[in-house]
Amino acid sequence: MKTSYKYLMMAAVLGLTACQQESEERTETAEVSDVQEVTTEVKSEKPGTGKAETSDIDEHSYGNLDEVDLHHLDLNLTVNFEAKSLQGYVDLSFERLKDNVTELDLDTRDITIEKAQIWSSGEWKDTTFELAEKDPVLGSELTVALDDETTKARVYYQTQPQASGLQWLTPEQTAGKKHPFVYSQAQAIHARSFIPIQDSPSVRVTYNANLKTPKELLAVMSAFNEPDTELDGDYYFEMPQPIPPYLIALGVGNLEFKAMSDRTGVYAEPSLVDASVAEFEDTEEMVRVTEDMFGPYRWGRYDLLILPPSFPYGGMENPRLSFITPTVIAGDKSLVNLIAHELAHSWSGNLVTNATWRDFWLNEGFTSYVENRIMEELYGEDRAMMEKALAVQDLRNEVQELPERYTVLNVNLDGNDPDDAFSGVPYVKGQMFLVYLEKKFGREVFDQFLVDYFNNHAFQSLTTQEFESYLKKNLLDKHPGIVSMDQVKVWLHEPMLPDMMPNPTSDAFTTIDSETKSWLAGEAKLDSLGSADWTVHEWLHFLNNLPEDLTQERMKQLDSEFNLTDSTNNEIAHAWLLLSLKTGYDAIMPRLETYLVSIGRRKLIVPLYKQLMETEEGAQFAKRVYDIARPGYHPLAQGTLDEVINK
Ligand code: BES
Ligand code: ZN
Repeated sequence: MKTSYKYLMMAAVLGLTACQQESEERTETAEVSDVQEVTTEVKSEKPGTGKAETSDIDEHSYGNLDEVDLHHLDLNLTVNFEAKSLQGYVDLSFERLKDNVTELDLDTRDITIEKAQIWSSGEWKDTTFELAEKDPVLGSELTVALDDETTKARVYYQTQPQASGLQWLTPEQTAGKKHPFVYSQAQAIHARSFIPIQDSPSVRVTYNANLKTPKELLAVMSAFNEPDTELDGDYYFEMPQPIPPYLIALGVGNLEFKAMSDRTGVYAEPSLVDASVAEFEDTEEMVRVTEDMFGPYRWGRYDLLILPPSFPYGGMENPRLSFITPTVIAGDKSLVNLIAHELAHSWSGNLVTNATWRDFWLNEGFTSYVENRIMEELYGEDRAMMEKALAVQDLRNEVQELPERYTVLNVNLDGNDPDDAFSGVPYVKGQMFLVYLEKKFGREVFDQFLVDYFNNHAFQSLTTQEFESYLKKNLLDKHPGIVSMDQVKVWLHEPMLPDMMPNPTSDAFTTIDSETKSWLAGEAKLDSLGSADWTVHEWLHFLNNLPEDLTQERMKQLDSEFNLTDSTNNEIAHAWLLLSLKTGYDAIMPRLETYLVSIGRRKLIVPLYKQLMETEEGAQFAKRVYDIARPGYHPLAQGTLDEVINK
């Protein structure tokens, strides 16, 4: 689609005129003359490491964040499926924060840099650049030399097929089997594998993008997507709100759009559109109740992009367009808390963002809290309580296995990849901290605190320390004698789970526990369990709490009574397959193979592979199946599983 009316309108919002855009385009294509050589200053190096220095503000970025303030990107990329490469250039607009800024330092990983230019005296001029050696966690620092005036640099580049933030799918790996598919996943530090950028959540940029794709495919981005755009392989996007780089996202494939309301809709492969719309039809209602509780939705449209099953996460909160795994399409809306979760990030995470990955709990803890409030509002207290109780039980099990330092909310990553510290801690311990505050101060006071928190920090990033002072001033000190800063410090800086942590319980779960006990003691029959009326959550609680020494006979009995091996609910199937491995119930093996080959969501498959690796026979099975499944997995899942399997 060529420059549309909408595009011009959005450009007007951004303060550009059509005239300005045209004149820029003309000069962009003009011959580069008067090339000015600028010398690159060598960056200081960390003593003894031989590595370039990372920013003081964010240990995971090489960006000179204290010298330049990056604020806008223009992306011009061709999506080349044959080469598995995005090819083109990015213009980076920035402000200079100091005098004598001589360079722009960017993050990259596995990107081929072709040329760098600066905008100077009304034209683009070639400039020198330097690509440092690759650090295994951070990638390669790219240093672009600046003159003493420019506020705009252009980098010509190509991504490499192994880009950690992109998955290139062959037609066979899609539902329709006819067209290729590519999508990005930038969080936490993967934007740098498809855009040379200051890849820190403390940075915020608006962006415009032009993607050129094969004609029959549709491209979407975490930006304004025109619901009835023309399918012509030439797509324009505008994201007028400033977002951190980890929220820049794209998807290209044989996609169809279907509206669910005036402002919500679904993009999916044609065969998945109707099922997705049926499953997620409550999305509009979710937006509405969240606005009622926590203030306006500030992003315009809210659409969902349903990805192929190899998507390594449940969901990703890319603004205006959440990326969603198809594994939650269960047919009964039982797993739609995922949508509530990704939507909740439109407040916690996308509007108010963690400044560094040590503050990740500010994103996920708040989001898990808001998610559960949405679920309560829409589906009632019982379901919300069950979801909380299941999450807390998982957390209690998980912290037993985690390195202790990763059980701290304000986690010390100490230079490690943020993905390595990923666990339920920032989510559920963070959520329980907020539930604790809600209980102490009362919902009315706490809700008002949250609304003010979102409004006061809208489109900003903050650290745990900044949050602490804000909390003290605006909640603790205003209502003295209820919660002390010492207690807050225990929550945020001490390992493991504090005694003051709330313990969500569900009456339905308590009933199941006593019925299960009678069955295990031989006092009651299976059909007296009352399972005919169980919800998915009750099933999960039941399966997660069965003993690991359950006899083969009982496993068989459960399977023939409830057909668990063939469950079409992916969460129930996961719980059952895991229990089967633990108890040695072999009848599931063919189903396990299909499951592992057809799903790439890490949360569902990694625990199964890990459990398989516990026995020699299991390890053999795991290796054989992994060989088949690996090419279909996302690079991130491949990375995690390579370690599990080769250990
Ligand atoms: N932002 C996360 C996914 C993520 C986290 C990607 C860290 C990369 C690094 C997303 O919002 C999320 O939390 N997804 C969960 C959803 C669940 C808690 C309902 C998931 O994928 O399982
Ligand atoms: Zn999240």
